[in-house]
Amino acid sequence: MAQTMLPSGTFQGETAIVTGGGSGIGFGIARELGRLGATVVIAGRKPERLEQAVAQLKDEDIRALAIPTDVRDPAQVEALVDQTLATTGRLDCLVNAAAGNFVVDSEKLSVNGWNAVVNTVLNGTFYCTRAAGLKMIEQGRGGRILSIVASYAWTGGPRTVHSVAAKAGVVAMTRTLAVEWAHYRIRVNGLCPGPTDTEGARPLWADPAEAQRLKAKIPVGRFGTVEEMAQAASYLLSPYADFVNGEIFVIDGGEWLGKGLTS
Ligand code: HXC
Repeated sequence: MAQTMLPSGTFQGETAIVTGGGSGIGFGIARELGRLGATVVIAGRKPERLEQAVAQLKDEDIRALAIPTDVRDPAQVEALVDQTLATTGRLDCLVNAAAGNFVVDSEKLSVNGWNAVVNTVLNGTFYCTRAAGLKMIEQGRGGRILSIVASYAWTGGPRTVHSVAAKAGVVAMTRTLAVEWAHYRIRVNGLCPGPTDTEGARPLWADPAEAQRLKAKIPVGRFGTVEEMAQAASYLLSPYADFVNGEIFVIDGGEWLGKGLTS
């Protein structure tokens, strides 16, 4: 059994949906919640990837279910939530980890390219949050919603204007719903990972010189791990964070800071 930070059984009897749960940070969060007792529903666009992920989770004795979903389609999102309720009987946590991004000069970004990212990151997060939130309200037991964001939402991020604008929207949505839905006992927070060593990100720093250049920009001098992100996410979703609401929790080794003229 891998090390977990929270007591085992923290999420016993609960159900969590993790979009983008087939790989990367989303998969890591699903695995950690599962290790802590949750039944996890992983949603994503690629059925084969989801099935592989579920098999891996089941190998660890985690109750897991794959529901192929394109978060850009509100009908598929409704079906995801309905099927989760029909299969597991409840919904306690939603993790919005589905994302899409590419690096492009803004003057070369097409309308379709903009829409592909904004529809996934901003609209998809709203569709999932709305569908899950309505069920949580109906159940009357409260709930927790956590969205993965990025610090370029507030610093700006040249050559990723689509993702920057979408993540900034998710930050604003998080803070807004945290206030609106608190009386339903639904907590809404964001997790903001810095550069994290995932399979998807690894090609970006496959060249050792490039890895060195990027690490030099991170005060602690290394990339984050999926496990670190997953443990932070689990804390924010757990009862230990019952008073944490509308927070954007940055976990990046100080990467977004230290950009002053003297550093
Ligand atoms: C320019 C591009 C492009 C690129 C796609 N497009 N990739 N334009 N440079 N590299 C344009 C296409 O030309 C098209 O516009 C439009 O976007 C839609 O492309 P499709 O491939 O048809 O769309 P789709 O299959 O829906 O792809 C969605 C995607 C894709 C977001 C574009 O990259 C994707 O699904 N990625 C998922 C994996 C991923 O991105 N993970 C990163 C998440 S991590 P036209 O006009 O030609 O029709 C993250 C933080 C990373 O977000 C931080 C580091 C920067």
